[in-house]
Amino acid sequence: MCGIVGIVSSRDVVGVLVNGLKMLEYRGYDSAGIAAVNGGEILIERNIGKIANLEDLLAKHPISGNTGIAHTRWATHGVPSVNNAHPHTDQSSVVCLVHNGIIENYQVLKDKLIAEGIAFQSETDTEVISQLIGFYLKNGTGFEEAVRQACCDLEGSYALAVLSKNETGKIVAVRNQTPLCIGLGKDENFVASDITAFLEHTKEVIYLNDGEIAVVTRDDVKFRTVKDGNELDKQAVHISWDVEEAQKAGYPHYMLKEINQQPLILVDVLRGRFRVGEDELEMPDVEEFVTPDIDHINIVACGTSWHASLVGKFIIEAIARVHVSVDYASEFRYRSPMVDDNSITLAITQSGETADTLAAVRMVQDLGRKTMSICNVVGSSITRHCGLNLYTQAGPEISVASTKAFTSQLATIYLLAIKIGIMRGVLDDSLFQHYLRELRALPRKLTSVLENVEELKRWAKYFQKKQNFLFLGRGVNYPVALEGALKLKEISYIHAEGYPAGEMKHGPIALIDDEFPTVIVAPASATFDKVKANLEEILARDGDVLVITNQPDEFRRYTPFIFTIPEVDELFSPILTTAPLQLFAYYTALRRGCHIDQPRNLAKSVVVE
Ligand code: G6P
Repeated sequence: MCGIVGIVSSRDVVGVLVNGLKMLEYRGYDSAGIAAVNGGEILIERNIGKIANLEDLLAKHPISGNTGIAHTRWATHGVPSVNNAHPHTDQSSVVCLVHNGIIENYQVLKDKLIAEGIAFQSETDTEVISQLIGFYLKNGTGFEEAVRQACCDLEGSYALAVLSKNETGKIVAVRNQTPLCIGLGKDENFVASDITAFLEHTKEVIYLNDGEIAVVTRDDVKFRTVKDGNELDKQAVHISWDVEEAQKAGYPHYMLKEINQQPLILVDVLRGRFRVGEDELEMPDVEEFVTPDIDHINIVACGTSWHASLVGKFIIEAIARVHVSVDYASEFRYRSPMVDDNSITLAITQSGETADTLAAVRMVQDLGRKTMSICNVVGSSITRHCGLNLYTQAGPEISVASTKAFTSQLATIYLLAIKIGIMRGVLDDSLFQHYLRELRALPRKLTSVLENVEELKRWAKYFQKKQNFLFLGRGVNYPVALEGALKLKEISYIHAEGYPAGEMKHGPIALIDDEFPTVIVAPASATFDKVKANLEEILARDGDVLVITNQPDEFRRYTPFIFTIPEVDELFSPILTTAPLQLFAYYTALRRGCHIDQPRNLAKSVVVE
């Protein structure tokens, strides 16, 4: 996601800030900016693209100062542009800030501020915060108190670093549901979204908790609560990580870090569409774009996104009662697909840059039909061609093998399906409430799945030398079997095939012997007994069976390899059944000594055919 670094020092901080931003580059970003206070003025430079572009700008328009803040932006509200890049100021340019997170009530606040005569310069949710602080300052409130009051008005997640031209030598930093920490240096102190930004200067760190403010000066840091301004006493901890360890948040690989980020991403996806404490699904963009008479959704995608699309077909057809077809984008673009008047073509893509998916979208656009995307990258090529884009809020995915993008795509599909179901009048309130309960329980259930890794490590140890694997699932978990097989082959180089369990008798069963294990994805479902019958057929041929289920007792007499997931409605199970398969692939690849984050021959984004 976005990155923040700030410094209060006795030396010029601009070069230190730029280096701090470079340490945050791994997080992914689309623009960067910097501000320094000098002679009672705030000097700001911002540019789109890489930090090198910002450096070019600084070479042409050098700025300096002893106090400064800097930011790398990963667009969420508003395309990547100079105007949308941080830092943002208030109307009078008295304060200036950088922000990570999402302000949920920004539109309400923006409307109020506009009514007060304030003119906005950007499309971001962030500018609401700087304008709000400026508004309180104008009413005679002091700098720190104005920041605190503004934060009391905000709903959503935010990490902030704020400067004032009237109080040089000070940064006010605030955290709510987005990480922020303070680095204690010698004759200087730091603020950053993650410790990598200042690790070369200090390893003494104080982590802010939600609802805490830090007032950072060169020699001192004071802490208060946002809610009532009470002073807090906080202790520093010593960090022993090097920079690379810190970028992976202590995980040995980005893939493992990204797998473990999934519960929080689910929370973010839901938070973006439900107001705090309310049950109303806010998707005005969908209401405007998708008409209730829609009768067909063509989904086009590649790779893991194609598997998410297949799960999406089950979800949308079950919840919204709209016919869905799913195509590999590379096939769709070379046939004569039926793209009817009342259809929408939905591109599902993490990067928004996959060549075949882009070509498929363009083709539909040329036919004059509606296109929309579910995408992780704001402003990417595919989103520029679609009439509606639903962003997945997963943050940059660095590991080539996709994990968190898949989960965020599924979460977005659930919301889309529920919204269309409501619009079409096929979803009554009790079903809506049931779906909502299932969705809201997913982050907690997924956390419990991810905490239970020992069984999967055992599987990896036992089966690491196998050359082949079969993955079986039925219904909404058939695509999960495909995704489990894909993850294993991508990173461990073991040949793996995914199949709908009902098809096993039509071919794959010929392969089964004591060297060919099968993973069965079998949560409680309408076809549960049929999947169990498949299991018996495999055991009768000496094949090992590994089971992902929420009915472990049903399998104990057949196999010692059982991974238990929590109780869940079958329709909402794929997020919980996929995570153990991601981890199984990860630990198997680890045992086989594979290059996990960058597997051989694979690219993160396939931008050529
Ligand atoms: C590549 C990546 C996969 C990804 C696929 C589709 O093959 O290695 O992880 O699923 O492209 O990418 P997209 O960005 O369109 O989802």
